[in-house]
Amino acid sequence: MELNSLSDLDFVMIRDLLFQQTGISITPNKKALVCSRLFKRVQINHLDSFGAYFQRLLSGQDPLELQTAMDLLTTNETYFFREPKHFEVLSGLAEKADRSRPFRVWSAACSTGEEVYTIAMKLAELSRIGRAPTWQVRGSDISTRVLETARSGHYPLDRKDDIPDELLKRYCLYGIGEYEGTLLIDKALRDKIEFAQINLIEPLPQLVPFDVIFLRNVLIYFDLPVKRKVITQLMAAMAPDGVLFVGLAESLNGVVDGLVSTGPGTYRLDRRR
Ligand SMILES: C[S@@+](CC[C@H](N)C(=O)[O-])C[C@H]1O[C@@H](n2cnc3c(N)ncnc32)[C@H](O)[C@@H]1O
Repeated sequence: MELNSLSDLDFVMIRDLLFQQTGISITPNKKALVCSRLFKRVQINHLDSFGAYFQRLLSGQDPLELQTAMDLLTTNETYFFREPKHFEVLSGLAEKADRSRPFRVWSAACSTGEEVYTIAMKLAELSRIGRAPTWQVRGSDISTRVLETARSGHYPLDRKDDIPDELLKRYCLYGIGEYEGTLLIDKALRDKIEFAQINLIEPLPQLVPFDVIFLRNVLIYFDLPVKRKVITQLMAAMAPDGVLFVGLAESLNGVVDGLVSTGPGTYRLDRRR
C-alpha cells in the first residue's frame, strides 16, 4: 500500500466521519495530511487500504481505534503563555472577583495542558499574594491522547522558554537523571486541576457557571453551524459576568447574538438579554 493511495471516495468517507465525531471540517487540500497521520494505523491494523481501515472505523466495532484515528486527525498545537494579553485580562478579572467564592475557569479545548497550567500559575500567584480569591481550573478536550499529557504536566524542557522565570522557579521542576531534558509542573499545582474528556459538539455535562472560559484556537476548525452550537452551549455555562476568550485569529462576529466584544478575542454576555 502506498502512503498517497487515498482515493476521493476514501477522503469523503473520513471527512464525513471526522465531521460527525468532532465537528471539524476539512477540505480536499488536507488529503496528504490525512494520509500521513493515518498510514501507520492502516498498517498496525494489518489492513491493505485506507478504504478498508475507514470501513472498520465506520463499523462501530472498534471504538478505541476510532478514538485513536480522531486523536490523530485533530491539531493540537499549543504553548505556555500563548496570546499573552489574555492572561493579563484574566489577572484583572481575578483581582476584581468576589472573594467569598472560588474564581472558576475552564479551558474547553486545552490540548496538552499548557494553556491550563498558564492559567493556574497566574491565579496561584495572585492568590498567594492575596490579590485574588481561591480558584478552580478545569481543562477538557475531545482527545484522550492530549489529555494524558495534560494530566501528567510533563513537557520537553524547551517549553520553558515561554514561561516567565519567576513562575518557572515557583511552579516547575527540572528533570534530572532519566528525566533530564524535561520539565514537570509542580504536583501541588497539578493536583488542583480537574481534567475531563468533553466533546464540545455533544450536549455538555452539568457544569457550575464559569467566570472565565477559554475556547481558543479551535473554532477555526468548525463551520458556522457548529460554531453556533458550541458557543451557545458555552454561553449557558458562563456566570452572568463571565468572560469568554477565543483565539486572536477567531471572531464571533455574526456567530451568535447575546455576546459583546470587550477586547481582542474577548467577549462577555450581553447584560441587556
Ligand atoms: C489547536 S488546539 C488549541 C489548544 C489551546 N486552546 C491553545 O489555544 O493553545 C485545538 C484543540 O481543540 C480540540 N478539539 C477539536 N475538536 C474538539 C471538540 N469537538 N471538542 C473538544 N475539543 C476539540 C483538539 O483536540 C485540540 O486539542
